[in-house]
Amino acid sequence: MAIIHADGWVFARACAKINLTLDVLGRRADGYHELASVMQTVTLADTLAFRGLEDGRTEFFCDAPVLNGPENLVYRAVQAVRAATGCQRGVRIELQKQTPVQGGLGGGSSDGACVLLALNHLWHLHLEREQLLDLAASLGSDVPFFVVGGTALAEGRGERVGALPDLPGRWVILLKPAVAISTPAAFRALTPAGYSDGQATARLVEALRSGQMLLLDELHNALEERVCQMYPAVAESREALLKAGATLVQMSGSGPTLFGLFTSLEEATPVYQRLLQEGRQVWPARTVTHAEALGIFASKDE
Ligand code: C5P
Repeated sequence: MAIIHADGWVFARACAKINLTLDVLGRRADGYHELASVMQTVTLADTLAFRGLEDGRTEFFCDAPVLNGPENLVYRAVQAVRAATGCQRGVRIELQKQTPVQGGLGGGSSDGACVLLALNHLWHLHLEREQLLDLAASLGSDVPFFVVGGTALAEGRGERVGALPDLPGRWVILLKPAVAISTPAAFRALTPAGYSDGQATARLVEALRSGQMLLLDELHNALEERVCQMYPAVAESREALLKAGATLVQMSGSGPTLFGLFTSLEEATPVYQRLLQEGRQVWPARTVTHAEALGIFASKDE
């Protein structure tokens, strides 16, 4: 999350994520699902700009009109920091969206985490990592992951996050089918037949920790099969990604965005070009390490 100072503005990047694995272990009494997931930040990112205001106001502007309101996680993150610290400083935040909305890429969650980290840094609040993680969890299940970034294991409802050794770098092609899927709808559609004991996640965690050669041939997303059944556009896009030459394809989170992983840019480029020519919504990206994801915030706070 590189940060640059210019004319009183501070710029930060809020990276999107993909779920390399997403095991659903079962449904909990509180309505959430118990998860085990290896999550990974990628270079597709929103840009946030911060500037101090003389009075204690919070001003927020987003270039996507549908997101330009006080229910945005950016705004809610500011409120959460104020409530936790009593800080009354004013701030203007401008958010330029790149990551698709409701795409399964955690865009809004990443924006929220970015605000927590940035305000902690800019306002010299000295919030500890655990406090930041608690604030993040209060904003949403996916938000704590973005306080950690890189490659990480998420458990519980997604809010218990531990860093893993960085995934050896991969090129990523992201393809968003032209449907919007709400996260609750995707989870509701899952039946107990889709639950697992978390084996896919455990195997990937083990491989990352032991530094074995990663084959990454056992990706798994428990939500994918039902989402493909309910939304034919997702199944069709999945086929298109495979037909274009990707061999390792999976849906991210609750979808609908799909990703293909590649070890070389030479392999990834023709796949990207072909999908682009087909008029699809597609982004080239690569995986982002823990250090890259947090940038200056990590050097200050860790
Ligand atoms: O925590 P967050 O507000 O992002 O979750 C949105 C919705 O996604 C929840 O209300 C729930 O329906 C579903 N969800 C779930 N299990 C999780 C995470 C999210 O069922 N672990």
